[in-house]
Amino acid sequence: MAEQKDEVLLKVEKVYYPPKRVLDKALISKEEFDQMYKRSIENPEEFWAEMAEKELYWFKKWDKVFEWNFPYYKWFIGGKLNITYNCLDRHVKNGKRNKVAYIYTNEDNQEIKITYGELLELVNKIANGLKSLGVQKGDRVVIYMPLVIEQLASMLACARIGAIHSVVYAGFSANALRMRIEDAKAKIVITSTWTKRRGKKIDLKSVVDEAVDGLDFVEKIVVLQREGDEFELAEKEIDFYQLIKDQSSECEPEIMDAEDPLFILYTSGSTGKPKGVLHTIGGYNLYTHVTTKYVFDIHEDDIYWCTADPGWITGHSYMVYGPLSVGTTSVIAEGAPDYPDPGRWWSIVEKYRVNIFYTAPTAIRLFMKYGEEWPAKYDLSSLRILGSVGEPINPEAWIWYYENIGRKQCSIVDTWWQTETGGHMITTVPAYPQKPGKAGKPFLGIEADVVNKDGEPVPPNNVGYLVIRKPWPSALRTCWGEPERFEKYWTEIDNLYFSGDLATKDEDGYIMILGRADDVINVSGHRIGTAEVESALVSHPAVAEAAVIGKPHDIKGESIKAFVILRKDYQPSENLVNDLKMHVRHELGSLAVPDEIEFVDKLPKTRSGKIMRRILRAKELGMPLGDISTLED
Ligand code: WTA
Repeated sequence: MAEQKDEVLLKVEKVYYPPKRVLDKALISKEEFDQMYKRSIENPEEFWAEMAEKELYWFKKWDKVFEWNFPYYKWFIGGKLNITYNCLDRHVKNGKRNKVAYIYTNEDNQEIKITYGELLELVNKIANGLKSLGVQKGDRVVIYMPLVIEQLASMLACARIGAIHSVVYAGFSANALRMRIEDAKAKIVITSTWTKRRGKKIDLKSVVDEAVDGLDFVEKIVVLQREGDEFELAEKEIDFYQLIKDQSSECEPEIMDAEDPLFILYTSGSTGKPKGVLHTIGGYNLYTHVTTKYVFDIHEDDIYWCTADPGWITGHSYMVYGPLSVGTTSVIAEGAPDYPDPGRWWSIVEKYRVNIFYTAPTAIRLFMKYGEEWPAKYDLSSLRILGSVGEPINPEAWIWYYENIGRKQCSIVDTWWQTETGGHMITTVPAYPQKPGKAGKPFLGIEADVVNKDGEPVPPNNVGYLVIRKPWPSALRTCWGEPERFEKYWTEIDNLYFSGDLATKDEDGYIMILGRADDVINVSGHRIGTAEVESALVSHPAVAEAAVIGKPHDIKGESIKAFVILRKDYQPSENLVNDLKMHVRHELGSLAVPDEIEFVDKLPKTRSGKIMRRILRAKELGMPLGDISTLED
């Protein structure tokens, strides 16, 4: 598998040193980081205990820092806390009641600001509302909402009372949503009526209607009605503001154990249906706090903007829990990046004097296509730190970002991490020298390496599997209802956390991520399992067999191509292609729709009948076929 990615190995020599204005302000210098890193690896328990004491408020201190019963681990055993206390109450108590927590904006340039004091009250009202519906500690609540303040507040309200939230990205289809509701046996679904993208309203409520149809265990659907809506709510449905209107704005935070679950977030793996990655409270709170603080170098008066959606892990860790725990002011923007025009994002940076900006390479490549004249129209001088996440950033995009958005006055932090890791694992902190295309070094407390199948480190600049040697505080604790899938992370390559990514490490210890080693496709930073798309296709009456691959794409990073064998009685046609695309959209959502569908008579298989996607991909890209000894014929 590893040799396949050799073609993308680029020689990246140039080192970018942080500008003086970044260095002057940086919370930690390169030397301090190096010292801290050394200590964090030599004595991780002492290091994390110190951080936990310094950075978080605990109702009761832990009895033991760390325990590892391979492959299961725990952090801060016996410690009691509530993540919302760390995100809200303590700031309100420490003089930040009137500091803005979120500035919301949308395509119509509406603006809503909410302070820490107001957000705490809103969260408490929702929490009390949920309690009034019978939600208890440990119950699951699914949230299927657009990027609005009520969405983030609903997540926090769950955490306030110890309910486990499962946020589902509002671009997923009814079937995808239904699978997640069923898998977690959610008691409550919180949704909204619509979101707006490129000026068009996208209906969300009807997706939920279809998803919950016949699911008796779902007790209530809470519906946030948006401006202009007048819905007749059906049985089981309750209006969001009706629910919270008469609730008290005080709600004591539930005293939670450090190892109690905080949330489930489904993500695609190489086989089967998505896995419900489970994160627990203590370690996750600490690790997202510490990474937010040091990787984004957050100062008291900074304005921070993460362009993700709360439906993904980036939204959980770096739009909600990390930034609030640190106490910063965040911008959130509903809608498309380039609507009404490609200057929209830069106008937001200018208007709110954004200092820290965190986005995905796919967005940067989109703006490269529009041309540098768009950002050039705006004053972007407030920016100090630029972040990248979700997929490898090619050096051209890195340099474009650095020059046209950062105006050569910013540090870039290319953060490699995953739903499973909870927080940033590999990056350079802002005061560190940067190499375009290379994410950088392991963060504090993280021992990352590039190894072969047997777990032995490969020589510098050779391709291998990216692994982490020991559990870190925000590592996933299990996969919901499927512990065997969790265990695989630590047993695939014995005793090491297997990320599923291919990487190289250079002589300076900088790690470059080359992409997935498995059958996961990364489309615009979204993880899509080939198996999911294949089973969606096969569920169409015309399809006998399907195989799906990822192909390099200029903007999206990868695009999806499907090879389909039709059943007898079906003929290839343009109409059928469209029909199959619609079908995948309905089964999974628009993000999983193949760009190309090719009808074939045969698929390359191993003698045991497994489809060899590697061969399809090599043929498609005109690359050497590699080892074909296991091919059936
Ligand atoms: C990819 C997103 C290169 C990688 C936070 C990983 C990256 C998957 C980077 C996780 C990066 C994420 N450079 N590749 N900076 N960040 N990836 O779970 O393949 O949605 O395994 O988490 O995205 O995707 P996930």
